[in-house]
Amino acid sequence: MIKYTSTRGGISPVGFDEAVLQGLADDGGLFVPEIIPTISAKQLQQWSTLNYTSLAYEILSLFVDPQIIPSEELKPLLRESFSGFEHPALMPFISFDDNPHFYIMELFHGPTLSFKDIAMGFLVRTMDYLLKKRNQHLNLILATTGDTGPAAANASAGQKTLDCWPLFPAGMISCEQEQQMTTLKEKNIHPIAVNHCFDGGDDLDIVVARMFSDTKRKKELKLSSVNSINWCRVMVQTVHYVYGYFRACKHVGDPVVFSVPSGAFGNLCAGDLARKMGVPISTFICANNENRTLHTTFSTGLFKKRDLIETVSSAIDIVVPYNFWRFLFFNTNSGSAKISTMMKTFQDKGEVQLDPETYKSVRNGFKSIAISDEATLLTIKETFEKYNYLLDPHGAVAVTAAKLLHQDVVNDVPVVCLATAHPAKFPTITRKALGSQNELPPQGVHHTLESAKSLPEKKLTCDLENLELFLSTQIKESLNL
Ligand SMILES: Cc1ncc(COP(=O)(O)O)c(C=O)c1O
Repeated sequence: MIKYTSTRGGISPVGFDEAVLQGLADDGGLFVPEIIPTISAKQLQQWSTLNYTSLAYEILSLFVDPQIIPSEELKPLLRESFSGFEHPALMPFISFDDNPHFYIMELFHGPTLSFKDIAMGFLVRTMDYLLKKRNQHLNLILATTGDTGPAAANASAGQKTLDCWPLFPAGMISCEQEQQMTTLKEKNIHPIAVNHCFDGGDDLDIVVARMFSDTKRKKELKLSSVNSINWCRVMVQTVHYVYGYFRACKHVGDPVVFSVPSGAFGNLCAGDLARKMGVPISTFICANNENRTLHTTFSTGLFKKRDLIETVSSAIDIVVPYNFWRFLFFNTNSGSAKISTMMKTFQDKGEVQLDPETYKSVRNGFKSIAISDEATLLTIKETFEKYNYLLDPHGAVAVTAAKLLHQDVVNDVPVVCLATAHPAKFPTITRKALGSQNELPPQGVHHTLESAKSLPEKKLTCDLENLELFLSTQIKESLNL
């Protein structure tokens, strides 16, 4: 059965359980499977009519050792993971009359209204399942640009095996996103608002990575991560590409295009993996906002950190898309030694130029673009006025990118735009786009967010400079150390 190694190559391969519970490998690399399993043309045909949960079971069975999670236990774990989704189709498809090849796949019907719920529900339940067997406990520390935190906090709330410490850049996420974390009453949830994050969630990623790099402290404080650092997140996110492919293609085997709003590149890394496994996705459109690290890399071969720009699609305001290293690992034949050298250059200089061979394989089947706030807001307005359909700012980035690049890709190939968050999480941006002062259309309101407004909030506050010490002290106290 598949074992997991590190992108930096500095560890002995481990089983699925260790990869999930450790989060980040002890050598500072990201866990990756030793081999990529394949889906045959026959399996693709057979799976094309499965519902989402059954398809997830088939795909995850390729990665999860049955000696670690027996198949009769994997099924209920998956069923529970999606039980909090409000829409019966889990991930419905929307199309508009005037372009039958153009789809929006809504990934935001989970309990905290973003696509993060899809993989987080399964990851946290899997951690709980493994920890119960070992009679162990973990502290999850995670950085959020607004959606990972609520998804992790919601899935962890009340789990006796876990304490969850979501870190968010104060004032840089929406009030609704903040309330999704701070109004949870369960004692094992400890949201922390961090002041002075000039590079937003990236500043928090650095602190999390530093805390993990001290392996002694990682063990003492029993730390793990559920950011898309964690292999399990990427693995589960492959499923919505396979599922979306089946919904969009006319015949299994035909090409399909996906347009994906991208930040840390976990979602697209999963898409690329689905394609490597055998799903005939012809092109991925990597849709950045003005924080265009990925677009620059795809268009010039230079992976370069820039200063953060605050945009209307704040959840993808990310300057270092850390899953790019995992993606590079899958896309170079030279393996971990080369990735390690590139990571080191990037750490030292803030940039690394891909060599021509790597650049060629990275670009294969990818288009990219950076979408301005102006264009994002215009897409929200036009889509609402024309179709009475309300996009959130991140879905709007994907739709704008697809409109601008799809002709360039191929005219009659279906294109699936991933709508990654519910618009009700961003009422200020909706108002700005629609030009209405107070009134929100019914699609821009959600009952869970409305009821959170009257609940008491609890959060800790800290400055970025003190975060490492503050967090270590808080966790030690909670462990009575
Ligand atoms: C709503 C939304 N869309 C897109 C993304 C980007 O996903 P990824 O970081 O996996 O690229 C995120 C999170 O970062 C998000 O919260």
